Amino acid sequence: MTTSGIDQVNGHSDFRPELPIRTMDLLRERNDDLRDRAVSNAEAVRRQRSLGKRTARERLEMLLDKDSFTEIELYRRHQAHGLKVSEHRPHTDGVVAGSGTIEGRRVFVYAQDFTIFGGSLGQAHAAKIHKVMDMAIDTGSPVIALNDSGGARIQEGVMALDGYGGIFRRQVAASGVIPQIAVVLGPSAGGAAYSPALADFTFMVRGTAQMYLTGPDVVQAVSGEKVTHDELGGASVHGELSGVASFVHDDEESCLEDVRYLVSMLPSNNLESPPAHEPVGAVDDVRPEFASIVPVEPNKPYDMRTLIAELVDDGEFLEVHEGWARNVVVAFGRIDGAVVGMVGNQPMVFAGVLDIEASQKAARFVRFCDAFGIPLVSLVDVPGFLPGTAQEHAGVIRHGAKLLYAYCEATVPRIQVIVRKAYGGAYIVMDSRSIGTDLSLAWPTNEIAVMGAEGAVNVIFRKELAASADPDALRAELLAEYSEQLVHPYYAAERGLVDDVIDPSHTRSAVARGLAMLRDKRRPTPARKHGNVPL
Ligand code: HXC
Repeated sequence: MTTSGIDQVNGHSDFRPELPIRTMDLLRERNDDLRDRAVSNAEAVRRQRSLGKRTARERLEMLLDKDSFTEIELYRRHQAHGLKVSEHRPHTDGVVAGSGTIEGRRVFVYAQDFTIFGGSLGQAHAAKIHKVMDMAIDTGSPVIALNDSGGARIQEGVMALDGYGGIFRRQVAASGVIPQIAVVLGPSAGGAAYSPALADFTFMVRGTAQMYLTGPDVVQAVSGEKVTHDELGGASVHGELSGVASFVHDDEESCLEDVRYLVSMLPSNNLESPPAHEPVGAVDDVRPEFASIVPVEPNKPYDMRTLIAELVDDGEFLEVHEGWARNVVVAFGRIDGAVVGMVGNQPMVFAGVLDIEASQKAARFVRFCDAFGIPLVSLVDVPGFLPGTAQEHAGVIRHGAKLLYAYCEATVPRIQVIVRKAYGGAYIVMDSRSIGTDLSLAWPTNEIAVMGAEGAVNVIFRKELAASADPDALRAELLAEYSEQLVHPYYAAERGLVDDVIDPSHTRSAVARGLAMLRDKRRPTPARKHGNVPL
């Protein structure tokens, strides 16, 4: 027999030798038995459930279109020796790998199986991941990792570390080429934590997911600090404090549902356009609601997300990093069927001021959108950068420069909508004309200036005010003069820095028309190895 028995019984070959029926049955039985042993371990599954977690295969079923999954290397298993590991050789390894579809579009996936060596990564486990990543890169398809792992498989020593290195190298090579999504559904310890950090988006589930480089035992041994797994690296920590998690969910079902939603808005690779829907007539949409969302008083808070909901089709959008750096909102949505990335200052949190974390959050989002051809709509209502020693000493200049860099570099269609105020450096950074926005729209109530009237008058008329017999009256007069001359959108519009001053109710139609106008924008970038982002 020249073809393997397993190929024959799987029907992988057209070659069908005249085998006696009995032999064929035996081969089939042997394969079924191997497959059973590879995919099921009742005790391990019971334990996984007791931890409130689904199995790797159940998760893939929830994530992918029905019956779309094709598995690779099911039978690959570890070849390690020593530390008694050779006595324990399941007929597979702790990761289920392959490909399927989401809303009919191809994705590559791997799901770590905590029931096998705690989902830890050894040589065979890593090789399977390398293979799906290579296939995803070769076919230009997103890669989705479902992580549930104790990190490097201790018994495999440096081979496990080598396996991680191979994943990281592939992730970086694929960055900006195919979307990469990490979903943390259990522990993601040690090396397992870097992979989500290198992904474009990271999802976590409250209560069961934790990410850290060194676990609580090591923390206690090194520093004496006692901390639980969740306190160290739970979903709330990464969703609200560190910013490592882009999305946090209460359960695996809603989490995987949102992964599907995200994928439905992303192109499969950097050469494709984002998946568009049919236009819905937004170019003629008049919405008086816009004006009632934004108070005229410059310092009165409102929720920028209400404005975003009014701007996008069906009021639907997907907010990224909802719980972290909430003074800026970043979200995907559709306007007249076309996918857009939106960056909006959030007046409801710290008056929408830009700070270190907001700059990092928005910069990474802008860079993602630019890498994958997603047009940017920036909704500006910003009093400036947050002043103070805490920010300055922590490097707000360096971090603010990240956002500046990201916008300056972006070649996708860019539309700026100044809805209320834009002051100083924050005006420049929030996609102003000077750094390359294609279309700048402003509402008539706008304040665009170097600084607010009060501060400006104090600086430029300090001597006059000090010498005046009636400084209050003089101040009032100067404030009125400053506001009249400089603090309105027409000063910028007359000088070509604002393309149009629009009625707020036309915001959606003006943006939709702008997107249509810019749809075919192409701007080649100069030949260079890469720029030097202020990391
Ligand atoms: C081998 C591991 C393992 C690992 C867990 N297991 N982690 N086996 N290598 N890294 C095995 C356990 O021995 C156990 O096997 C099974 O998985 C389940 O683990 P439990 O500890 O019983 O589960 P639980 O109580 O839920 O705790 C899960 C855990 C804990 C928090 C992940 O296992 C843990 O702390 N593991 C070590 C985490 C860690 O420090 N990893 C970093 C490795 S260094 P049995 O047979 O008993 O069921 C690293 C550096 C790479 O990754 C750097 C690259 C840049």
